[in-house]
Amino acid sequence: MADLEGLKRDAAARALQLVRPGMKLGLGTGSTAKHFVELLGEKVRAGLEVVGVPTSEQTRELALACGVPLTSLDETPALDLTVDGADEIDHDLRLIKGGGAALLREKIVAQASARMIVIADETKLVERLGRFPLPVEVAPFGLAATIMAVRRAIERAGCHGSVTVRPHKAGGALVTDGGHNILDAALGSIPDAARLSDELHEVPGVMGHGLFLGLATGAVLATRAGVRTLGQID
Ligand code: 5RP
Repeated sequence: MADLEGLKRDAAARALQLVRPGMKLGLGTGSTAKHFVELLGEKVRAGLEVVGVPTSEQTRELALACGVPLTSLDETPALDLTVDGADEIDHDLRLIKGGGAALLREKIVAQASARMIVIADETKLVERLGRFPLPVEVAPFGLAATIMAVRRAIERAGCHGSVTVRPHKAGGALVTDGGHNILDAALGSIPDAARLSDELHEVPGVMGHGLFLGLATGAVLATRAGVRTLGQID
């Protein structure tokens, strides 16, 4: 399958080979993670025993429809493996996530996992993070003040660009599963991701941001020439 959806499914299929009976899995969000949940569902229906923690309500519904048994981090606080997509990935396995507005739950689930494998098509691999607007999840309370503080944090980290509230398709601001809003910071390039992460965490209204640093342990990237991997996979 040479089309983009085919590449995403190829990456998901390779990640599925890492799943062993009895594993506790983090289930990502997005169009690539959707392939993984669907393929996992096929295995479960064929007898594989696993449990999953979904990173969004969307993934929860899909997993249930596919027959994947679910648990929560309250019942199962330590997971074996999370498989999730990404909006950007660099050669050091640093990510931008949150294009699907699930970044906070995705980060909590990834942090709770012994391993996080990113699945993506080759277009997600970048030399430097920042072309994809960085999602920042914020409390609705004091939104205008938080936007100003986020802009200052971004400048302190040596970045420049616009910060906008992500709209909902039906009008108004998008609200995440956790009841927050999303700011999209169109930075073009992030010269110091660790500094930017630290600066954003200093803003009280910031619930989380889409920079995933030191969380991914490996990546499966599907290219037209076949699947390639980064980091530790097996
Ligand atoms: C959702 C995410 C997704 O993993 C990311 O947006 C990639 O999605 P897709 O696989 O559809 O390109 O971070 O919050």
